[in-house]
Amino acid sequence: MAEAYEYQDRDVIAPEVYGRAGHPHNAFAWLRANDPLHWCEPEGYLPFWAVTKHADIVEIEKQPELFLSEPRPIIGPEIANPEFREEVIAEIFKRLQDSPKLLQVLAGSGQQGLIRSLVQMDPPDHPKYRDLVQPWFKPRNLKRLEDRLEEITRNILDDMMGDGSLRELDFVQDVAVYHPLKMIVELLGVPDEDEWRILKLTNELFAGDDPEMKRVGDDPLSMFETIKDLYEYFDRVTEDRRKNPTEDLSSYIANGKIDGEYLPFKELISYYIIVATAGHETTRTAMSGGLLALMENRDQLQKLTVDREKYIKLGVEEMIRWSTPVAQFSRTATADYALRGKTIRKGDTVGLFYASANRDEDVFDDPFSFRVDRQPNKHVAFGYGPHICLGILLARMEMRIFFNQFVQRLEHIELAGEPDHLQASFVHGVKHLPIRVKLKPAA
Ligand code: HEM
Repeated sequence: MAEAYEYQDRDVIAPEVYGRAGHPHNAFAWLRANDPLHWCEPEGYLPFWAVTKHADIVEIEKQPELFLSEPRPIIGPEIANPEFREEVIAEIFKRLQDSPKLLQVLAGSGQQGLIRSLVQMDPPDHPKYRDLVQPWFKPRNLKRLEDRLEEITRNILDDMMGDGSLRELDFVQDVAVYHPLKMIVELLGVPDEDEWRILKLTNELFAGDDPEMKRVGDDPLSMFETIKDLYEYFDRVTEDRRKNPTEDLSSYIANGKIDGEYLPFKELISYYIIVATAGHETTRTAMSGGLLALMENRDQLQKLTVDREKYIKLGVEEMIRWSTPVAQFSRTATADYALRGKTIRKGDTVGLFYASANRDEDVFDDPFSFRVDRQPNKHVAFGYGPHICLGILLARMEMRIFFNQFVQRLEHIELAGEPDHLQASFVHGVKHLPIRVKLKPAA
């Protein structure tokens, strides 16, 4: 595979490349073998180092004072022309005219943008903000959710089963979207009737590259309308929780204080947004990628079904490694740094390509084979270091419960068409997975 392939910088980042066939594993394999720390200058992007080895990602993420999340926490397309940039900012102000609170945030933000959540933060703010909700994600608290999650899963599988006959459906859009979404709605304590609103808004925000997921496919600024809706929605939630605090995560966020003060408006709303967004597209994508892998590796599906007690935990971990829903985050160096015989200069961006690290031949035995008994499995699909995914235990629990019930009820499954990939190089995975399936009722 690697010999016939001619590497180009756009292959590691261009959304169309991801949309065509998923994570660009041929480009990553080439880079790991030939230039594991590679200076990329793809058109439409500011340059960055592509970090493709597992050890290098770990080394960088362990040093949050040296490699900052700000000002470029992910690698996204750049508006290169400064005049156009001015026009864009003017247009954003125009669109937000009817939202004075947001205009204030925007005026105070400059280039920084309207969202400042954990992923954009560095020390000393990052640990302070993270500590605020960390207790919510501890095993003891999550344990309380387990029964509810079992019930949510049972209901979703009942819907998927229908009348028990062989059915055709799109696993991503008809099944996998509901599971994490219902969980997030539960965590945040927002009413069930707002589920679809949250789903739509977060889809629009996260899969921003993919035309199908955008509010207005050819309008690059539609993102700001989405952010506006999210701000307005969670502003109302905050007001309510300050008056009527409950046990939910929204109450934690609304009433949380740092150095004796409520969170500033931008950081406050961004907190809800990161929890609402980070939690569902990723988990949905891992579930869908996991199911696809199981269908493509029938012996592994069989193994998981026959001995699920033994393999469910390892199997879920392997599905997450295999699908790696978050393609990349990035960091910016605060000082010159030597790595792989090269110098990353102060101010350079390093792109951390998790999907490449998760196929690294130096870490994984036979990395291109999907094995539900893989152990050890030190993948970095959840990142590493102080920014490691806050929802790691929740995501694992959701997937474990889903696949545990699913394989018990599965009578038949096959692909009913070609899987379709998200045209996105941030959160990435399958967006349509047509299947023919037959389930039996819960025991
Ligand atoms: C399979 C599912 C998931 C995957 C693959 C995933 C992946 C990631 C990755 C790669 C990061 C960045 C880590 C880094 O910079 O080192 C991250 C951060 C984060 N994730 Fe997840 N995630 C998943 C599910 C969830 C869930 C269910 C939640 C919560 C409800 C969540 C909340 C967060 C938050 C809040 C952060 C920011 C943490 C920080 O910057 O300190 N994620 N996730």
